[in-house]
Amino acid sequence: MQFYYCAKYIFIKHNSIMSNQPPHPESHMMTHGYNPDWSEGSLKVPIFQTSTFAFKTAEDGKRFFELQTGKRKLEEGETPGLIYSRMNNPNLEILERRLVLYEKGAEAACVFESGMAAISTMLLEFLKPGDLLLHSNPLYGGSDGFIYQVLPRFGIEILGFKPTDTKEEIIERVNATGKADRLTFMYIETPANPNNILIDIALCVEVAQHFSSPTKKVITACDNTFMGPIWQSPLEMGVDFTVYSATKYLGGHSDIIAGVCMGSAAGIQRVRKLRSHFGGMSGPHTAWLMLRSLETLQLRMDRQCQTAQVIAQYLRKHEKVESVYYFDQFADTRQEAIYKNQCKAPGAMISFDIKGGEAACFAFLNKLKLIKLAVSLGSTESLAQHPYTMTHANVDEAVKREYNITDKLIRFSVGVEHPDDLIEDLERALKAV
Ligand SMILES: Cc1ncc(COP(=O)(O)O)c(C=O)c1O
Repeated sequence: MQFYYCAKYIFIKHNSIMSNQPPHPESHMMTHGYNPDWSEGSLKVPIFQTSTFAFKTAEDGKRFFELQTGKRKLEEGETPGLIYSRMNNPNLEILERRLVLYEKGAEAACVFESGMAAISTMLLEFLKPGDLLLHSNPLYGGSDGFIYQVLPRFGIEILGFKPTDTKEEIIERVNATGKADRLTFMYIETPANPNNILIDIALCVEVAQHFSSPTKKVITACDNTFMGPIWQSPLEMGVDFTVYSATKYLGGHSDIIAGVCMGSAAGIQRVRKLRSHFGGMSGPHTAWLMLRSLETLQLRMDRQCQTAQVIAQYLRKHEKVESVYYFDQFADTRQEAIYKNQCKAPGAMISFDIKGGEAACFAFLNKLKLIKLAVSLGSTESLAQHPYTMTHANVDEAVKREYNITDKLIRFSVGVEHPDDLIEDLERALKAV
């Protein structure tokens, strides 16, 4: 019996991709970066449920640590070895290589045990005391909490901007702080959770460039959770990092909590190093589940998006629905222009206002049967929730007012069910309002 533990997994260069054309990622999610010969012919990647890896010799152990700790660079023909699952594990490495196929513009990926672990590790790697962080509004409640409750403890100053701000207005906001020279990082989330407001990615890249100099680059990152790598590619637009709650579409089955950060090889190397210090990497079982999920990512997201368009049309015509926030129609021309410039499809997240506020929303939610009343999104089953009292309960009232997060808002994540069955469920529940 022969097992191959060494990190050949890392160095398989598109082994399953035969042509020079850019690959269709979905065709390679079953095979890329893995060879069944390594594991007794096992067609699927086994779960490497191990904390540590045996070295053949002490010299090997020394070599592997030299590479891991950056004491020396990989030599021609040399393969790095697996050491310890906090540092490297085949499931994690195969998964990271497959994620790179999906994320246009990415050279490397780093997988975490949650979306918040990915976001917090990335921010802490690039920020230091005295720095200024600029961010879009509104943000997912957990990201908002980390930025406002944790980062200031490390001497980091925070400045938010509005989705409606022009480039000049954002620049003016930064200049007004008197700390423009300390602007280090620009963090955006688009579409913003919970009501699908778009932030202009191209404009944000220009703002970051405006404050960059030959000696200091303002780093940009985009939380791409709502659109996933299929419907929006921020790295191709000049953003440095994308981050994901992989708990959502990438995982896609409401059975894992995970996160991903992607970007250039050099940038991800830095994030990975801090991940190793914090110990926030994904475990082999979670990584394996995500490998399985990626095989159907395109299928799931295509189907979810098609169904969402049918549901949005239905909701727009319903007498008890006041407004629908979805990208088949736009409240203003600027949002439409942003959508056309940066999104490839309208996605599968719909928010809508029900006439009558909290009581009406609760009556609706309590009557749903097929659609589950739960937070989270991007899963195979449809989920609905009331952001004002649930996911955004902790967000400041003034912020909620400003961004239209009211007690009449429902956030609806469309799953893979048949649209007719979803509409039947919605119809019954809206009758209760
Ligand atoms: C847009 C967005 N970013 C980040 C997160 C955090 O991800 P996780 O719950 O996997 O830590 C979430 C979670 O809901 C989210 O919706």
